[in-house]
Amino acid sequence: MAYSKEVVQRFEDVLKNPEKHSVGSFDPNDPNVATGMVGAPACGDVMKLDMKIDIDGLIEDVKFKTYGCGSAIASSSLFVDMLKGKTIEEAKQIQDKDIAKILDLPPIKLHCSVLAEEAITKAVEDWETKK
Ligand code: FES
Repeated sequence: MAYSKEVVQRFEDVLKNPEKHSVGSFDPNDPNVATGMVGAPACGDVMKLDMKIDIDGLIEDVKFKTYGCGSAIASSSLFVDMLKGKTIEEAKQIQDKDIAKILDLPPIKLHCSVLAEEAITKAVEDWETKK
């Protein structure tokens, strides 16, 4: 199985410069931070997504920590791009197949994009619970 160019490039960029690519987390006690943490039972990989949401309900910044394969890290990096500047309602529209399509994931790696969608869903749920 070969990774697509998009996966390889994102994965390598994140490894070279994690800070620039939003690896990290926000203060969990910040009331404007929503968090989603999910695990994939099939492979044991874990993804954590933090969204910082402004007073108007816009996602102003995103951080992630992912312990997993190249596709999972590329999927995480992609959701950073997809979420920044969006509303919570727009974030809810992001689906695993959008991520899989952009990254050209092979069938055996589709669960990596499912994990990314689940992280977004959990973070949105966390936000709606906090509000
Ligand atoms: Fe587990 Fe990719 S192999 S998330």
